[in-house]
Amino acid sequence: MNILKFNSEAKLNEAAARIITSTVQVNPSAVLGLATGGTPIGIYKELVKDYNEGLVSFSRVTTFNLDEYVGLSPDHHQSYSHYMKENLFNHVDIVAERTNIPFGLADQLEEECRQYDERIEAAGRIDIQLLGLGHNGHIGFNEPEDELSSSTHVVNLAEETKQANARFFTETEEVPSQAITMGVGTILKAKMLMLVVKGADKAEIVKRALTGPVTTQCPASLLQTHPNLVVLVDEAAGSLLP
Ligand code: F6R
Repeated sequence: MNILKFNSEAKLNEAAARIITSTVQVNPSAVLGLATGGTPIGIYKELVKDYNEGLVSFSRVTTFNLDEYVGLSPDHHQSYSHYMKENLFNHVDIVAERTNIPFGLADQLEEECRQYDERIEAAGRIDIQLLGLGHNGHIGFNEPEDELSSSTHVVNLAEETKQANARFFTETEEVPSQAITMGVGTILKAKMLMLVVKGADKAEIVKRALTGPVTTQCPASLLQTHPNLVVLVDEAAGSLLP
């Protein structure tokens, strides 16, 4: 595991984007695993900058997002599909058909999950998977449980996660209570994992995830078992790390 600490959010975002850009420069047909939430927004801005400066093209890249809410259509303004278009896809030369996000309105959710894993398998291994960290140690929407599902599955969101994500919804809107998420097994199959953690409010949980016991009660702790994990933290998030 490699832990990189940055003294500014701007430097962290640049470094994370450079890792993704160089992955695509080396392999223009790279398969990228993407995340949503607050953490990656600045990283996606840097990727758009790299694209505008002619450093990288996404025209042959395939992407798979970690998760999507159940019950939101792709054009709902809080869907992760909409988020990806707003923050990245609409601003680079990526081909829409090669971007993959679980379909939260599928009639047969289990079947949607099975097909999502099949699509990942068919694309080959994910070259680099970007991950944020939940306050309860979740990755994707794999919440702390006695047992974790390995493959893509439907999950009930923890109350803590719903509260954390309520900041993106208007007062009258309900945060969905279910999501489709890649399983921890799917995530761990990626060739490289890049965990990005920002802010003092995540200092405890990132310490627990990276230096505590490997346990399903802290899903991110399973990342310790991956042979190619890079962790990027700002000073506040990394303050308790060695
Ligand atoms: C998002 C995702 C989540 C977030 C996590 C942190 O696709 O899978 O695990 O990465 O909830 O969210 P932020 O970045 O908003 O703190």
